[in-house]
Amino acid sequence: MDKIIRTRRSVRKYKNRKLSRAAIEKIIEAGTYAPSACNMQMWHFVAVDDERIKSGLESHAGCPQIMKDAPATVFVFYDRNVNKEHYANIQSAAAAIQNMLLEAHSIGIGSVWMCTYGDKEKVRKLLGVPQNFILVAAVCFGYPDESPSCPKRREGVVSFNSFGREKTANEKIEKYPTTFDPAKWTMEQVRDYREFSIRAKSPSSEEHHPEMKGEFKAIVEEIPKIEGSVLDVFPHFANYSYALLAAGKLKDVTIYEMSDAVVSFLKKKFKQLNGVKFKTGINLRFQSHFDAVLCLESLEKVPNPEKIISAAAECLKKDGTLYVLFINKSSVTAGVHRLRMMRGLPVRVPFNPLPYRRVKSMIEKNGFVIEDTVGIGIIPKTKTGNYKTRGPMKRFCKFMLVKARKK
Ligand SMILES: Cc1cc2nc3c(=O)[nH]c(=O)nc-3n(C[C@H](O)[C@H](O)[C@H](O)COP(=O)(O)O)c2cc1C
Repeated sequence: MDKIIRTRRSVRKYKNRKLSRAAIEKIIEAGTYAPSACNMQMWHFVAVDDERIKSGLESHAGCPQIMKDAPATVFVFYDRNVNKEHYANIQSAAAAIQNMLLEAHSIGIGSVWMCTYGDKEKVRKLLGVPQNFILVAAVCFGYPDESPSCPKRREGVVSFNSFGREKTANEKIEKYPTTFDPAKWTMEQVRDYREFSIRAKSPSSEEHHPEMKGEFKAIVEEIPKIEGSVLDVFPHFANYSYALLAAGKLKDVTIYEMSDAVVSFLKKKFKQLNGVKFKTGINLRFQSHFDAVLCLESLEKVPNPEKIISAAAECLKKDGTLYVLFINKSSVTAGVHRLRMMRGLPVRVPFNPLPYRRVKSMIEKNGFVIEDTVGIGIIPKTKTGNYKTRGPMKRFCKFMLVKARKK
């Protein structure tokens, strides 16, 4: 049992091989052997393995692509009115889900627990589930076509008889920030966040932003081929440099990320691609000089973005190029984000869209001349977000991409 617990991983890529109904039933049966509050067992499991239903869920309820690709997805419901004190109904469903994951793994089937399953109510209606059942989570199942490594475990999380948190070497964090605003985070806290959240998705490029493929493509198209050496600063998942390398637009790129955990994840992700080096740190000191620096969606995620631009100025060769991509404070996306902040939603992601004026000023103050600015995408989360403009509307686009030359 211990081996099954320790070797289970979230699997998000599956072989093109069907799951038998018998296997799905065996997995769900293991779920029904979980404990439940007051032994009510008021769960219901809807297993979807029919292609037509899968397509309907994607197009009408916004279910993610992975649910279409997985041979089967089990939607887990629980009676919303039974044992709702202390979220005991949710806890009971969660216990069933964990049993299913372990059972699946023990018979060679991969799974991933999903709380992003599209529109809860639409899923419920499409599957014909009565109103008194709440959708707790969905679990995708299939034969594994990837073997993710085990994410590192957080240390110092146990104490006896009273709460106590030891400060370990890699964790100087006693209290996690409860705000989106990166200005209220320390670099160590941002590093910690990145280190653990890197494993929230599989190490494959497009899956990280399936909802914004159009915008992503438009951005990658906008960045030209760079012949010389390139530094990519704090790219976290490094989706842009991955796509740029894969498109043959980069020859020699150094990816600078905050921690060894993220870098080892990236090494695995980039293993098929040539021309990439990695460097770890948060102090932004570089020995070598580069022909170009990429800061793509990194400024809005750190406490002090000015430091990144001044470090870029220091490590760029004369006439070197700086590419800055940021989420624009005057966009609809930023407005939605502000509303979430005002409502105090408990999302602990350091991210705050930036005003163009501030980005422009930090670039110019550091001895750069801005040569080009393009706006990309108007509305958040569209599949057709490849709207691009150099006209006045760029100031309202979701993304702004600035190209600047070092004087
Ligand atoms: C409540 C819960 C919700 C999750 N939701 C998602 C999700 O929406 N999408 C996803 O890709 N993974 C999701 N996961 C999987 C986690 O990202 C994953 O468990 C974590 O990164 C650790 O990796 P491991 O499962 O391989 O140990 C979820 C896990 C839990 C427990």
